[in-house]
Amino acid sequence: MTPSVQILESPEQVAARAATLIAGWIDMDSADGPVHIALAGGTTPAATYRQLSGLVDDWSHVHLWFGDERHVPLDSTESNYRAVYDDLIAPSGMGPSNVHPVPTAGDVTADARAYADELQALPADGAGLPVFNVVILGMGADGHVASLFPHSHGLSSRDSCVAVDDSPKPPSERISLSLATLNAADRRLLIVTGSAKATALAASMSQPDPGIPASMLGRDATEVIADFAASALLPHR
Ligand code: 6PG
Repeated sequence: MTPSVQILESPEQVAARAATLIAGWIDMDSADGPVHIALAGGTTPAATYRQLSGLVDDWSHVHLWFGDERHVPLDSTESNYRAVYDDLIAPSGMGPSNVHPVPTAGDVTADARAYADELQALPADGAGLPVFNVVILGMGADGHVASLFPHSHGLSSRDSCVAVDDSPKPPSERISLSLATLNAADRRLLIVTGSAKATALAASMSQPDPGIPASMLGRDATEVIADFAASALLPHR
């Protein structure tokens, strides 16, 4: 089984489609209670976040978490929180009680444990893992998602999140949801643009391989939105 894939011509169209999809999920799920969303870091989702900030009328039921975070101060230019604040949190006008930054002020292992404690606020699955309504992910050219890099321990951990101290993508220290938590989510949205991701995106559609972490995402509830450049090596649909 392969995930559902939507292919659009440009990154701008990808951002518009992703923002609309996420806003629809928020609207639908808000009727049932809190909506817990894990946000992707990196640069790809920025345009999606900027559009999303204007598509949701009532943020009061939404709780924003982070799929991964660089272990830097929240006001660092490398911080995913800082990027999301600029692109989504500030423009949306949502209150601080809706946003859950990853602790990054202490030791990375202790901060990961503290984040795991905070994630206990979410509903849990039978394995005790937090169940997000939506996990939004980008993907690296090596097929990493969140801060789960090829063959990393977070791919096999049964914990909700892990400390990373050897990220090949700087900075080296990060905190990431584990693959188990990504796959416990109700929905996963993978947003991929640019030709540099084409090889990894094609590989992510084949057999699950710890060398391509995106290939290990659950297929049934994963939606991929990609542009023509990133989709160039996908089998023609
Ligand atoms: C991070 C991200 C990371 C990112 C990919 C793609 O903190 O760096 O979580 O997983 O999503 O590396 O990054 P770009 O979107 O910048 O290409």
